[in-house]
Amino acid sequence: MSKKIILTGDRPTGKLHLGHFVGSLRERINIQNSNDYDEMYIMIADAQALTDNADNPNKIRENIIEVALDYLSVGLNPEKVTLFIQSQVPELTELTFFYMNLVTVSRLERNPTVKSEIKLRNFNTSIPVGFWTYPISQAADITAFKANVIPVGEDQLPMIEQAREIVRSFNSTYKCKVLVEPKAVLPDNEVCLRLPGIDGKAKMSKSLGNCIYLSDSTEEVRKKVMSMYTDPNHIKIDDPGQIEGNTVFIYLDAFCTDEHFSKYLPEYKNLDELKAHYDRGGLGDVKIKKFLFNVLEEILTPIRERRKIYENKIEEVYNILEQGSLKARAKASITLKEVKDAMKINYFDDKELIKSHIEKYKNKGE
Ligand code: TRP
Repeated sequence: MSKKIILTGDRPTGKLHLGHFVGSLRERINIQNSNDYDEMYIMIADAQALTDNADNPNKIRENIIEVALDYLSVGLNPEKVTLFIQSQVPELTELTFFYMNLVTVSRLERNPTVKSEIKLRNFNTSIPVGFWTYPISQAADITAFKANVIPVGEDQLPMIEQAREIVRSFNSTYKCKVLVEPKAVLPDNEVCLRLPGIDGKAKMSKSLGNCIYLSDSTEEVRKKVMSMYTDPNHIKIDDPGQIEGNTVFIYLDAFCTDEHFSKYLPEYKNLDELKAHYDRGGLGDVKIKKFLFNVLEEILTPIRERRKIYENKIEEVYNILEQGSLKARAKASITLKEVKDAMKINYFDDKELIKSHIEKYKNKGE
């Protein structure tokens, strides 16, 4: 039986928000609590974040602790999962350098996620090499731990595919079975793949200012929910309202359960009934927004409370990250050794090599 090893991570460029929560954090917690895994690693990808923030290391530094607090506050348990910082595991950099020989420039150019990120950042022709090659470093992150299960958002699928190719190429080039092919795990609820921002326009993202953060206060959440984009043509309560593209309903699809109805809106059994009423007309936006607010508050309150506890124990949080990084390093260095052995770059440990060279030069001078 092969082991089930989970690895995933986030770039520390800002606090985590509800998009992260439904896209991947919730799945991580489910796996953790199911106990159906052998090892689980969660990485704060500071080195990757630096590939397009080289001039702003302070931003990354400040956000490492934010992401760590978010991890702990959603319920990731450092006794059960290894939380670590990417840059503190230098073996990952070494693996990246070796894998670079197995990837062509044109393959990197085809990676759709990198392509769209380059556009988004207006790099034009001045793309930092580190940024452009980060899919290779991500393959190192994954393979260093022999991870086979990667809970990520949809945008990360091309990274996992590229990692799989690198694994196959490595194992066939060096005729070994050292590396393990990873598989992505996406949320099964479609709306969770791309949770829109509160403006309804695009994916929730820090740069667009349309996020609800896991660390937002009750008042902030209330304000944001009340300002959410709905159906612009639903002017009078009696008008029929549109469900499709209605951000409040998209969020309800992502977050609410039938129990939420019996608790906060007992005149409806479930979301289908609520949708049908909205569609018919006679249901106002304020009512659905208040319901969504209650649903989100039920989810966010325990997260906020746990965050408070850890905010008062920052030293302990750093200690968790430090211990986790040591543990991650120990594991990654085993893989690195196997990789180097497979590539025959273990010169000083290879007694046969040294002996054969002694033989080679033995009679030369005579
Ligand atoms: N690219 C991921 C993100 O932007 C972060 C990341 C880095 C990652 N290395 C990884 C995710 C390895 C999964 C596996 O969120």
